[in-house]
Amino acid sequence: MSQLDNQYDGARHANASDGLTIRDLTIRIGEKEILHGINLDLIPGQITGLAGESGSGKSITGLAMLRLLPKNAKTGGAITFEGRDLLTVPEREMGKIRGQHVGMVFQDPTASLHPMLTIERQLTDHLRAHTGVSKKEARERALDVLRKVKVPLPETALKKYPHQFSGGQLQRIAIAVAIICEPRILIADEPTTALDVTVQAGVLRLLRRLCDELGLAVLLITHDLGVMSSLADRIAVLRRGEIVEEGTRYNVLRNPQHEYTKALIDALPSHEGAGADLASATDAAVETAAEAVNVEGAGADLASATDAAVEIAAEAVNVEGAGADLASATDAAVETAVKPAAETATEKEAGND
Ligand SMILES: Nc1ncnc2c1ncn2[C@@H]1O[C@H](COP(=O)(O)OP(=O)(O)OP(=O)(O)O)[C@@H](O)[C@H]1O
Ligand SMILES: [Mg+2]
Repeated sequence: MSQLDNQYDGARHANASDGLTIRDLTIRIGEKEILHGINLDLIPGQITGLAGESGSGKSITGLAMLRLLPKNAKTGGAITFEGRDLLTVPEREMGKIRGQHVGMVFQDPTASLHPMLTIERQLTDHLRAHTGVSKKEARERALDVLRKVKVPLPETALKKYPHQFSGGQLQRIAIAVAIICEPRILIADEPTTALDVTVQAGVLRLLRRLCDELGLAVLLITHDLGVMSSLADRIAVLRRGEIVEEGTRYNVLRNPQHEYTKALIDALPSHEGAGADLASATDAAVETAAEAVNVEGAGADLASATDAAVEIAAEAVNVEGAGADLASATDAAVETAVKPAAETATEKEAGND
């Protein structure tokens, strides 16, 4: 076992120094300086949102953490992870860190999945290449991780190919590939931008849950402050290669200091808050929970019905803008969706006896 592996296991969940720190990062591609010296911390168990207009340098920042920059890129500053500077570690070491300790999810899930390989191969090849576990163990881990990301019928899913899934399910599978090696850092670059609006919230809530349950340090890149309004713990706002504002979600959204942040917030669709669309959030939640129970039959997994309902409600509220009150949406979802779903399942169970 390498020194890196020892540190990885031993330091898990410990504290902020387990995360990743970016200090004075500059990136120049050809003649053009893209990042002008940015600072950013990724903290275990927290989602750090990186917002900013198109071309501001968000993706370049994410790619720099995996050292996947164009060949002619020149970097300055430091990206520190486990006491190493990712800008300078030898390529062999970087290959190990990439995918195993730092996972990444992109806008288009098909870009990170191979069209000709089964889901089982995609999950297990990746895991075995990095960890050398047995085929049997890899399969168990693949089933586990599919359950974690709430892909229905994991056993069947393993045998399928990417084109047999919807966009939302595919993004969940791409997230499964990204976390199967139990990375400590997860970079999600516009993970819901290409998805249908009805499934976006579910994927965002999934990221939140994985962050909390696995103690992941998540970087959520998006041009949309709205999508991170109820998700991110901290928000950094990038403009033309500079971070112009950084702070807790509350402070950045409620009390923005920079004119650019104010403009981004003003551009959000609505500030009316949770009341605005709670009715449709709960309607969607009811439908989703009922569907989950139906699909899975009498033995329905209530926990996943619950998750689905809450995710849908949260999503709907999310879309409504920064002021939304997630807690009351969640309460409403539990009242209107989860309780009826529980009753349905119990009735079906009774009917089967
Ligand atoms: N491979 C490349 N070669 C040269 N310039 C690049 C390359 N990739 C990105 N850039 C430049 O770097 C800047 C930042 O690009 P980046 O992709 O990080 O923006 P972004 O904030 O992710 O935008 P979007 O919201 O559109 O995804 C842009 O000016 C872009 O033109
Ligand atoms: Mg981008």
